[in-house]
Amino acid sequence: MTALTSRKILLAITGGIASYKSAILARRLQDQGGDVRVVMSKGAQAFITPLTLQALTGNPVHTDLLDESAEAAMGHIELARWPDLILIAPASANTMARLAHGLADDLLGTLCLATTKQIMLAPAMNHQMWANVATQANADTLKKRGFLLLEPDSGHQACGETGSGRMPEPEDLRDQVIAWFEQQSAAGSAGNPAQISAASTTNPSPINADLLKGKHVLITAGPTVEPIDPVRYISNHSSGKMGYALAASAVEAGAQVTLVSGPTKLDTPQGVTRIDVQQATQMLSEVESWVPDTDVFIAVAAVADYRMAGIAEEKIKKQTEQMTLTLVKNPDILKTISLRDDRPFCVGFAAETEHLAEHARSKLQKKKLDLIAANDVGNRDEPVFGADTNALDVYWGEHGHKRIERAPKRDVAAALLAIIAERLKNP
Ligand code: PMT
Repeated sequence: MTALTSRKILLAITGGIASYKSAILARRLQDQGGDVRVVMSKGAQAFITPLTLQALTGNPVHTDLLDESAEAAMGHIELARWPDLILIAPASANTMARLAHGLADDLLGTLCLATTKQIMLAPAMNHQMWANVATQANADTLKKRGFLLLEPDSGHQACGETGSGRMPEPEDLRDQVIAWFEQQSAAGSAGNPAQISAASTTNPSPINADLLKGKHVLITAGPTVEPIDPVRYISNHSSGKMGYALAASAVEAGAQVTLVSGPTKLDTPQGVTRIDVQQATQMLSEVESWVPDTDVFIAVAAVADYRMAGIAEEKIKKQTEQMTLTLVKNPDILKTISLRDDRPFCVGFAAETEHLAEHARSKLQKKKLDLIAANDVGNRDEPVFGADTNALDVYWGEHGHKRIERAPKRDVAAALLAIIAERLKNP
């Protein structure tokens, strides 16, 4: 067995002199057992022919959006669902700009809008084009939306100049693809490659792609950060992993997903609109602005219950042995939303260290929620904050209760969304 056995990789080649290297890249991925299909933009076809890639991979090459015979075989939506990973190499400046704007007038643009799979880009262009503020702004936009951008190499370029913008060598790209799959496997479950592939890169726990079709799901995640002075703050240990897992799973379930996130180190899941905030008051105003369009609101964020009565403008000096900070209560975001006349279906989380069921049921009632997911954050042997796994006890109504056993957070998220979808159907 080799490193990419049963991994499905859609290699998208766009216009640039580096596209000749992509023919070798296709072979290197196949050498490691990868199942490789190729999409080529019009620009790419000016440098290298589809026939070359067809001969190398043994599969037909996809070039057109509106090609009847191609649609009859593997249509663009099917193609968007097929891979475990979409690798755009080389990714030209034009392609990056088009993706950043969400254009859908060619096959690659449409695929990238229609897919929920990870998209990895290997930018390759003249070094001035790469350094240009427009290209860098597009790169930032794409990163924020969950695209993975590989660093271009530096060196002598085909244009005769020297600088950063070269596509890495095919062997380097192959190794980065392998490393990505390994990272996904480590974050997901162990097992045979086919299981790992399904578990880690596409859909950890099979989720019905129509489960939340047409629904807008709004999620808060991560901690809030409440400043004390210019250098200090009040916060907590939330990593955002549970909320981001729910966002990714909700996309898989067919929902349109907005994620209002406190500061985290996580990449935006593919297909999710992410809004970054720091403080609870900012989180509330962002959430309020999205609520009129929301069907389901899931509050996963660990919101700081208090903030400073006043933020010191200068760094507070340590002049006394003791210090008293005056705090004021933050708004309860979840409760504010659940009390609105136009409230969506409201789901809360309860982080409890004792009397899980009792405290969770009390929050369900007091915050007037449709459902609450309680996690035990008091068990040192099985941490929740920052961990990759979780277990939930889900409560609703007078007596409703379901247990989701400890599993990777993506699996737990999928199971919770199934319960939410069921409750939505049978309120
Ligand atoms: O981010 P991870 O590292 O993956 O960890 C996940 C988690 C432990 C943060 C998550 O699973 C979790 O339990 N989130 C809720 C934590 C929490 O603040 O619980 P709470 O019992 O204090 O609040 C109850 C509910 O009210 C929560 O849905 C919370 O988002 C919401 N709330 C609380 C206070 C506030 N001012 N506004 C709110 O909306």
